[in-house]
Amino acid sequence: MDFKSENIPHNSTLLVTGGAGFIGSHVCERLLDRGFRVVCLDDLNDYYSPDWKWANLEKSRSCESFQFVRGSLLDLGLLRNLFDREAPSAVLHFAARAGVRPSLRDPKLYEATNGRGTLNILELCREFKMSRLIYTSSSSVYGERFNMPLRETDPIMNPISPYGAAKYASEKMCQVYQSLTGMDLNVIRPFTVYGPRQRPDMAIFKFTRMIDRGLSIPLFGDGSTARDYTFISDFVDGVEKALHFAGGFRIFNLGGSHSTRLIDLVHTISKALDKKPEIEFQPTQPGDVPLTLADISRARDELGYEPKISVPEGIQRFVDWYRSSAQVGRA
Ligand SMILES: NC(=O)c1ccc[n+]([C@@H]2O[C@H](COP(=O)([O-])OP(=O)(O)OC[C@H]3O[C@@H](n4cnc5c(N)ncnc54)[C@H](O)[C@@H]3O)[C@@H](O)[C@H]2O)c1
Repeated sequence: MDFKSENIPHNSTLLVTGGAGFIGSHVCERLLDRGFRVVCLDDLNDYYSPDWKWANLEKSRSCESFQFVRGSLLDLGLLRNLFDREAPSAVLHFAARAGVRPSLRDPKLYEATNGRGTLNILELCREFKMSRLIYTSSSSVYGERFNMPLRETDPIMNPISPYGAAKYASEKMCQVYQSLTGMDLNVIRPFTVYGPRQRPDMAIFKFTRMIDRGLSIPLFGDGSTARDYTFISDFVDGVEKALHFAGGFRIFNLGGSHSTRLIDLVHTISKALDKKPEIEFQPTQPGDVPLTLADISRARDELGYEPKISVPEGIQRFVDWYRSSAQVGRA
């Protein structure tokens, strides 16, 4: 397969927004391992513990070619200084308000951070003639859909949360700026990423903690809703491949390409913990989609992306980290 790869030289400076978060911190580590200089922008907000986020960066902070800048996407002056001073060769944009359900409680915050914050990044990419941008969207843009698997070419996007709608609006804004500037702009749509340092508000973390402590798990719906779960190292492989892809405007699903039912996920976690779960069934929550399943053939064909870690193996790795990490106490 002839990939349109145009490598960013490994001694370049890269800007990673949201680099203290779950995904961003793993990406920073991978890029530092590859020899890049990494500038990480994050506002360390309290959506979940800022101490937890700071701990995510422990390994990166020990590296000379890593620089942390505390600041917000909404501070255009700070961003402009950063672009000017650091002259990054590419931007990997992960910073966002990430929860689906909280977006129903505070849609304005989601619209501001995920919408205007992304627009600020796009404006500066235009001003500073950036050649490559990775924009992290979400599988939530597909919304409530019954035809599976979900493909990038699907004509109907049906987001059912302010989070999903803001991500979709920003994808469109990315498309506009790509056509205005001609930069290579790759939109990646993650499908439920999990693994060590998982956000503590996400189901896998919460279920693990509850089963471990012998507490009953509130399971929304009858357990038949299903998600395509993507292990973090597979996802970071996809990000890295997207970073080196030059194809104008392109959207890529990055998923595991298998769906796992919620009830089966709970049993997989309980097996890894070797503890029995107590389940309390509750009504479905608004904003939750019934099913996600990624068609990853485009990422496979054009990027060479290939997820390797099965859900049982990934959950075992997560549980091993959960048991050994001092970070868990900060949740
Ligand atoms: N984890 C998943 O399964 C998943 C699925 C789909 C999409 N995504 C997207 O991937 C990205 C990373 O998600 P994550 O799970 O690592 O979430 P996360 O909350 O751990 O990381 C996001 C980071 O962005 C930072 N941030 C938020 N607002 C900011 C602002 N105004 N200025 C600067 N920094 C700000 C946060 O402090 C945080 O460290 C997000 O864009 C999210 O929407 C994640």
